Amino acid sequence: MAKKQHGFFSHQTLEKNIGWMIIASILVVSFAGLVQIVPLFFQHSTTQAVAGVEPYSPLRLMGRDVYIREGCVGCHSQQVRVLAAEVQRYGPYSVASESVFDHPFLWGSKRTGPDLARVGERYSDDWHRIHLRDPRKVVPESNMPAYPWLEKTVITGQNVDERMRALRKLGVPYTDDDIAAAPKAIEGKTEEDALVAYLQGLGVGVRKAKQAEQAEAAKKAAQSAAQPAATGG
Ligand code: HEC
Repeated sequence: MAKKQHGFFSHQTLEKNIGWMIIASILVVSFAGLVQIVPLFFQHSTTQAVAGVEPYSPLRLMGRDVYIREGCVGCHSQQVRVLAAEVQRYGPYSVASESVFDHPFLWGSKRTGPDLARVGERYSDDWHRIHLRDPRKVVPESNMPAYPWLEKTVITGQNVDERMRALRKLGVPYTDDDIAAAPKAIEGKTEEDALVAYLQGLGVGVRKAKQAEQAEAAKKAAQSAAQPAATGG
């Protein structure tokens, strides 16, 4: 059979040369990735906080750092996925703009335990304390580890102000006054206090903002139903 000639910019160059194939694949995948990722850096839906999301208070910030240190993210995700079963179990699915003040974000992917993105105010503070000290006391079949040392470690004097300053460099809008007042806010608190405060706030701001929005809309609807002519369209 006669050998057909082909130029360098032909499929055969790639198909017969694994080196070029690898290089071309990397180029294509990288470019396609950038096309998906780069626009997100500039979209408000990913860069600006959704209503109800505020920078962490000093105590909650310290609690978040305990959560990171203890590896809670290794068993708990914080992202309700867009799946009917998850939305029914946990609440509205998570959106990117809920995490704009999270550096690093704690979405996680391992789900040995339940998702925690909406756990705030689902249990009492006391429930969380007992659960953290010994999960089996409230959930007999639990295989979550106990964290009894958290209630014994006082965080007074820890560098919460420096942590806030570091976060400010990453875009979290803490004011000088916020930072100056922070050491006082964690005085006399334990790691357990901080962690419980952190957990009790998860998902709460967004839920309340949404409820307020819905109440407002319902009020408007009721008003316009009561006096249809007066609303003027
Ligand atoms: C080895 C995996 C594992 C680790 C690590 C772990 N958990 Fe859990 N967690 C679980 C499991 C399993 C459950 C469900 C049973 C229960 O409620 O104890 C759970 C339940 C919970 C719940 C109740 C959630 C709900 O909706 O009922 C909270 C809150 C919680 N964990 C917080 C934490 C925190 C905070 C840490 C880190 C200090 C942590 N967990 C570390 C496995 C883990």
